[in-house]
Amino acid sequence: MLELNDPTLLKQAILVGGEWIANTGHGFIDVTNPATGALVGRVPKATRAMTVAAIENASQALPSWSARPAAERSRIIRRWHDLIVEHVDDLARILTAEQGKPFAEARGEILYGAAFFEWYAEDAKRLYGEVLQAPAASRRMLVLRQPIGVCAAITPWNFPMAMIPRKAAPALAAGCTMVLKPASATPFSALALGELAQRAGVPAGVFSIVAGAAAEVGDELATHPLIRKLTFTGSTEVGRSLMEKASGTIKKVAMELGGNAPLIVFDDADVDVAVAGTIASKFRNMGQTCVCANRIYVQAGIHDRFVAALCDAVAALKVGDGMAADTQQGPLIDDHAVAKVEEHIEDALRQGARIAVGGKRHALGRTFFEPTVLTGVTQTMKVSREETFGPVAPIFRFDTEAEAIAAANDTEFGLASYFFTRDNARVWRVSEALETGIVGVNTGATSFEGAPFGGIKASGIGREGSTHGIEEFTELKYVCIAEIC
Ligand code: SIN
Repeated sequence: MLELNDPTLLKQAILVGGEWIANTGHGFIDVTNPATGALVGRVPKATRAMTVAAIENASQALPSWSARPAAERSRIIRRWHDLIVEHVDDLARILTAEQGKPFAEARGEILYGAAFFEWYAEDAKRLYGEVLQAPAASRRMLVLRQPIGVCAAITPWNFPMAMIPRKAAPALAAGCTMVLKPASATPFSALALGELAQRAGVPAGVFSIVAGAAAEVGDELATHPLIRKLTFTGSTEVGRSLMEKASGTIKKVAMELGGNAPLIVFDDADVDVAVAGTIASKFRNMGQTCVCANRIYVQAGIHDRFVAALCDAVAALKVGDGMAADTQQGPLIDDHAVAKVEEHIEDALRQGARIAVGGKRHALGRTFFEPTVLTGVTQTMKVSREETFGPVAPIFRFDTEAEAIAAANDTEFGLASYFFTRDNARVWRVSEALETGIVGVNTGATSFEGAPFGGIKASGIGREGSTHGIEEFTELKYVCIAEIC
């Protein structure tokens, strides 16, 4: 069993309307540590009826939660933030145990997630409406900004402690209530957040957590008429199917979907900065990040120097159990993830790419994989068309800026992109030309609670984080008052 300072943070129960249910009579999800195979714990699966109960509870809790003064909601959300920060080490142990990422990275994710609670505790008090210039002296016209209502969130396993806060904090700050379905691979992070929500004073029904099967829990959340907004982070394929289901009841949807981020290194880049940025982007969470660099385009004049320096940095990455102090790369989440990485490497090699570093399963076994660099990669290879979601850096060589931009945009996805240059005119030109919702210039790490996160094209709809993120959980209501004089 996991050693925690506060063992009550490991909740082996789901949370429905303020009640913890340890046995649903519907089976359990066994959560294992990808580094060791050890059982972290078991979470009972919610039934469809329990999901409905959570939705109904959220609906009952909505009027009093949304009627509270914003300052009161803000204080509760702020306490939630403080409790997360206070328990960061226990939460990081839980996250590393169920997800595999190195402890230091897990801690970083938890503080990043907590920052959304801090941000939206503040934004709750600054959610303003408008007074319009009326076309007649006898009229006044207002725009009210009201909470959209009961929200459903479906979150992924790669960043549970950032993705849940990024959805729950603005929703609750705006006065909405929420039912969350966490990923089955990482439910304990979500459940610990639920425990801290209760300690912070989030009232019963305002935030429920129903783990379980997508075909039951996810389906109910996507179709139930009381849910007014569905927010999802995950693959484009699942997002598309959820949008179809949600269309039956005309729900508002927010979709943070797949990426295929290009990272471009121009001849005039600083090699050290470009290598550090590439490592930060590509190898964060072992490459299991929607915003990870998936395709690395390097201009001919800097290609060999950049590749040599990148290979040195990648070869030096320490792979191991996330709980070991010096680990920089943990295991991948499961065998499917490893199989996809292997498939992409095999396809690239068949089509003429070469392995410069790594390229195979790690000697540690299980789902550990060697951080890999491929050279001689071309646009026809799978690594170019699909998100690898693993620790593989495929290098493409290019000659002109126009060629790099065309290749970077040659994808159905449009979440993040990165480029490295010291030319200021190019900074503007290329930022404007890249078809993505997020652009990192001379950095591989752009995430920040105060910035809008989200993609265009098949990468999704809507923005999370920043002031735009809370607006997504509101509806505008136009009030026209006539005959006032
Ligand atoms: C993601 O993979 O979507 C999370 C990335 C982030 O918030 O930085």
